[in-house]
Amino acid sequence: MHTSVAEVAGAAKAAAGFDVALGVSAALRNFKAPDKLGFGLVAAPVMFSAVWTDGAWGRGELVPYGPIEILPGARALQYAELVFEGLKAYKVGAAGPSLFRPRENWQRLKRSAERLSMPVVSEALFFEAVEAIVGACHRCIPQESGRSLYLRPFLFGTEAGYLLRNSTTFRFMVIANPVEIYSSGPMRVAIERDDVRAAVGGVGTAKAAANYAASLRASNAAVARGLTVALWLDAREQRFIQELSGMNLFAVIGGELHTPALDGAILPGVTRDSLITLARHLGLVVHERAMAIDELLAQILSGECTEVFACGTAAILSPIGQLTDRDRREYVPNKIDAVAAQLREALLAIQERRAADPFGWTREVAPLAL
Ligand code: COI
Repeated sequence: MHTSVAEVAGAAKAAAGFDVALGVSAALRNFKAPDKLGFGLVAAPVMFSAVWTDGAWGRGELVPYGPIEILPGARALQYAELVFEGLKAYKVGAAGPSLFRPRENWQRLKRSAERLSMPVVSEALFFEAVEAIVGACHRCIPQESGRSLYLRPFLFGTEAGYLLRNSTTFRFMVIANPVEIYSSGPMRVAIERDDVRAAVGGVGTAKAAANYAASLRASNAAVARGLTVALWLDAREQRFIQELSGMNLFAVIGGELHTPALDGAILPGVTRDSLITLARHLGLVVHERAMAIDELLAQILSGECTEVFACGTAAILSPIGQLTDRDRREYVPNKIDAVAAQLREALLAIQERRAADPFGWTREVAPLAL
């Protein structure tokens, strides 16, 4: 049973094109976040769902958060026909909520869907969904610096069958979680010399769930060695740095910033792009280039490379305390979280609207009275 959002929220929301299920208001009213949020452990009380059938998207729906039904034979489960996004809503430096560069996430979701031959979620549907979640959950958005509402839009094939072709039915959903920053403290990175994450021409540039599954064996091996995360090298020569499993890498070399150029296999991070723009704006020289791992290790040993860090939506910007090679040799940069701390604060201040936003990156979202 559903009412339209216009009936629930009044004339101001009359243009909205999605339905609101019964139970949404109660779910929002009854939600109380615990003090400890973790990352993805606490679910926001509502979620958005739209279904693709007969070649078109149906009307979206805001429903209470909970389990969904999916056929066991669905292509998403059988053939990993699933792409996703991650973006954050903030409510620290201003009374109302805002999103950070959401259009970049829509564009990447579009590219991911195209790479997997899935239907594109239109820009209008994407914004309807993320703004419905942020607007409805505005009271669930943490107000402490460093905390936010993490949004997880995802698109998956729901048709059952083993024929190796795309599903003809899909579902687009957005779930959300009030979160703390994904990781804290310097990471201990394991250089992965055996497995590869992605090859040029593969799906590395798409935010395909399968990429993350493919990274887990190396992550587990790293953790078993007392390290934090694996660092991936290119698939052809295992020579050039690509990325960490869910973050892009930067190094400070000779006082300038260096990051691997997008090589056709690296995921183009929104935070990576934001940092490059912001660092240049702050007067730093930034190089996007092919970075050989052995060269970086030599530069750490010589002291020319003073600092290494990683960035991503979840972690924002996370220092790297050491890189460890297969032979267990450790490479420790002289500095940890020096340039990185300055960039993190500069970026976070824009994201949280504690500082001016010279790039027009933040997008305010109207709270919904549901
Ligand atoms: C993100 O930073 O949003 C990601 O998708 C990475 C994931 C490992 C948390």
